[in-house]
Amino acid sequence: MAPITNGRLIFKEAPGPDEYPIPGKTTAYDESKTIDLENVALNGGFLVKVLVLSIDPFLRGRMSVPKGLEKLYPPALKPGEPLQNSGIGIVLRSEHTSVKQGDHVYGRISFEQYLIFPNLNGIEVLKNEANIPISNYLGVAGSPGLTAYAAWKEFIKPKGNEVVYVSTGAGPVGSTVAQLAKRDGLKVIASAGSDEKVKFMQEIGVDVPFNYKTTDIKEILAKEGGIDIYWDNVGGETLDAAIDASHPNARILACGMISGYNSPDSLAIKNIFQIIPKSITIHGFNVPALAPKYIAEFRKEVPGLIAHGELKVLEHITKGLDKAGHALLDVLTGKNIGKSILIVAEA
Ligand SMILES: NC(=O)c1ccc[n+]([C@@H]2O[C@H](COP(=O)([O-])OP(=O)(O)OC[C@H]3O[C@@H](n4cnc5c(N)ncnc54)[C@H](OP(=O)(O)O)[C@@H]3O)[C@@H](O)[C@H]2O)c1
Repeated sequence: MAPITNGRLIFKEAPGPDEYPIPGKTTAYDESKTIDLENVALNGGFLVKVLVLSIDPFLRGRMSVPKGLEKLYPPALKPGEPLQNSGIGIVLRSEHTSVKQGDHVYGRISFEQYLIFPNLNGIEVLKNEANIPISNYLGVAGSPGLTAYAAWKEFIKPKGNEVVYVSTGAGPVGSTVAQLAKRDGLKVIASAGSDEKVKFMQEIGVDVPFNYKTTDIKEILAKEGGIDIYWDNVGGETLDAAIDASHPNARILACGMISGYNSPDSLAIKNIFQIIPKSITIHGFNVPALAPKYIAEFRKEVPGLIAHGELKVLEHITKGLDKAGHALLDVLTGKNIGKSILIVAEA
């Protein structure tokens, strides 16, 4: 077989701190590489055809590391490097004793159509015993779901009759939090940026779903009598409104601050003083630190809940590696309705 194009989505240049990543300027689709799938040397490793990639807000932080976090974040991508994120591929050929042709492999994957892995460092064979769509392992059954599951268990410790407010309630993290909270018997208020997202939040059992672009957050939280827990995915004005609506001894889970990823100045808040007289606890966390403690129980429980319809999943599909830059911009501007999945190739 003659060599074929091995397309890649490469990082070109960092957007400014208050700029969005622009497809074609920040990233570019490159077709300059080729690969001979039958004859390329594996040297004991295995050849993978990439099937699906996760498009996460986190990718923004790989392009320019937020100020002050240089030692805590992975280093920024270098111009000319392909982007990297969670993904799943299928093994085309293998010389590795633990990997066979036809296996699905899951882990950190470069944004390329075909990849050779020398070993299983950073990648593992996906078992999928629950027999759910493999793309779910990039969303509710993957890192975003683990984020919700692990931090909910580690920090929230819900008591009956409590009220939780969740922002980005239609995304993979927020919708998992909302569903875990319902399973624990809490009243759930959740916001998202479109009526279609509100409809999905209704479907997953959110008691008070609302569109924060057309409804005042402060008014809703006051009307519902305030909150005991706030799961923060956006920061800024939303966090400010949640602090204001918090009851004494409320807990705030600082999971993400997406409203500031492309405009850091908008993260300023006015109500911070209230955390003292209200004895509010704020927990920040990073999922890799919690993963070792929760990954086994998460894998045992969550794919099965999805398979039985007890955890609902919504995916937003974009097709084609050349569209990955557009898919990221969509996530950062709220156009994704559910977990953003990039289909690179059909199996
Ligand atoms: N701490 C950790 O370890 C960890 C791990 C994974 C994810 N996270 C964070 O969790 C959050 C949710 O992640 P996800 O993967 O579930 O993302 P997601 O919900 O699929 O996508 C991000 C959503 O953020 C909302 N958004 C974008 N710009 C916004 C703005 N200016 N103001 C308010 N909302 C805005 C949009 O929804 P709307 O239409 O609702 O605005 C968008 O759809 C992110 O902040 C992410 O960085 C943290």
